[in-house]
Amino acid sequence: MFNLLGKHPDMKCHVSDLNSNLILAYLAIRDKVTEVIDSLEEHAKKYQKNPDSYYYHVRESEPVSQIEKVSKLIFLNKTCFNGLYRVNSKGKFNVPLGRYTNPNIVNKSNLLAVSQILQSSNLEFFCRDFESVLHDIKKGDFIYFDPPYQPVSKTASFTSYTNKMFTDDDLDRLANLAEKLDSMGCKVLLSNSKSKKVEKLFSASKWTIKEIRVNRAINSNSKKRTGHSEILVKNY
Ligand SMILES: C[S@@+](CC[C@H](N)C(=O)[O-])C[C@H]1O[C@@H](n2cnc3c(N)ncnc32)[C@H](O)[C@@H]1O
Repeated sequence: MFNLLGKHPDMKCHVSDLNSNLILAYLAIRDKVTEVIDSLEEHAKKYQKNPDSYYYHVRESEPVSQIEKVSKLIFLNKTCFNGLYRVNSKGKFNVPLGRYTNPNIVNKSNLLAVSQILQSSNLEFFCRDFESVLHDIKKGDFIYFDPPYQPVSKTASFTSYTNKMFTDDDLDRLANLAEKLDSMGCKVLLSNSKSKKVEKLFSASKWTIKEIRVNRAINSNSKKRTGHSEILVKNY
């Protein structure tokens, strides 16, 4: 999205996710970036005094204001274990503290640059299920899906970005939706892990599957962080 908006600032673009805090973060960075930065600076100051206890204090906190919810999300992302986002069945963030000497909690120039791009007048955000895309597409539109990745091994089960797990049924729903969008004349791109299930769901000849090698930041064993295969599936 940032890449395309850099090239076509007036591009009409709809961004959706089921995680309300993620959508809230985009909105707050767009509309109140100075307040987000101030709140993050407060977090950074208190974290430096006692990283361990402050991290868990923030993790357990339940802020009510939009700015505090967003600065909590960004603060935890910068200080938690490997930038992982995971919640338990009750929707509570449950990632432990990461091992950093000097985490970049307030990346001011980046936040300001992101805010600038998000102010594009043709950009809209929605907290909704992916199938809602059917309400606003037309022939020729481009749709990119970045769903929770399918686990590739028994121990790699990581699909809980929200407290609603991304199930096999969800993946089937997504594959059916992709078929429908294809038949409506849309361009579809989907990224995922190199999982047998995904490759099978998109085995029809209209889909091109491209394997790409990526470096994974999220793995408890740093030796296993490099050299993973992911796939890009597309119909154009
Ligand atoms: C691989 S992440 C992509 C994150 C996103 N591209 C970003 O960084 O801003 C997968 C995303 O899918 C979202 N998700 C899970 N189930 C969903 C659903 N049924 N409908 C829409 N989004 C969903 C999660 O909340 C998570 O943010």
